[in-house]
Amino acid sequence: MNFGVLISGTGSNLKAILEAMAAGKLDGRVPVVISNVAGAPGLAWARAHGVPTLVIDHKAFPNRAAFDAALVDTLRAHEVDWVVLAGFMRVITPVLIEAFPSRIVNIHPSLLPAFPGLHAQKQAFDYGVRVAGCTVHLVDAGTDTGPIMAQTAVPVLDMDDESSLRARILAEEHALLPRVLQWIAEGRVRVVPGENGARARVSIAGGGVT
Ligand code: GRF
Repeated sequence: MNFGVLISGTGSNLKAILEAMAAGKLDGRVPVVISNVAGAPGLAWARAHGVPTLVIDHKAFPNRAAFDAALVDTLRAHEVDWVVLAGFMRVITPVLIEAFPSRIVNIHPSLLPAFPGLHAQKQAFDYGVRVAGCTVHLVDAGTDTGPIMAQTAVPVLDMDDESSLRARILAEEHALLPRVLQWIAEGRVRVVPGENGARARVSIAGGGVT
């Protein structure tokens, strides 16, 4: 299974994916990492570990659709089966979504549908929730709205600040994302269309217990 990974920043989730592959816990390869930001630290780390990287700067394109068309060309050229958004800070368009229907995965640092969008950990902390977490979901046309594949909850402690909560969530992201990708690699993931206006759901053969 070829997972194309899109990043914009630190790339710690990318690192978790590659480490899971190296440890034999994730059957697949990453034929290409694409960043829209030239200086993304995750790029340097990937290069140092022999993973092909490319920068496609969104600012070089007249609109989001043209940028996404370039992403699609590059992903296809690298024979990508599934696309993983791992800290990719761009809103994607139907151009990308329709090129990889129900085959784009995003990791989001909240228990969706709570706190979609930017700064989810700060949103959760500021709200005062006692349980926070992360979500891996399929990407649809909305922002963080697609069918949920898996979630991990973490407690919010009295001694927490936003930074400690962010770190606790991120540690769980690093465990959750490779696990879900392995379900994909095993062919266990199926999208069940919603009936009578209900949302589509993801079904994981064997239960999908994290
Ligand atoms: C993670 O918190 C992820 O959930 C969010 O962006 C952050 C990316 O972190 N979408 P990293 O670049 O993988 O370290």
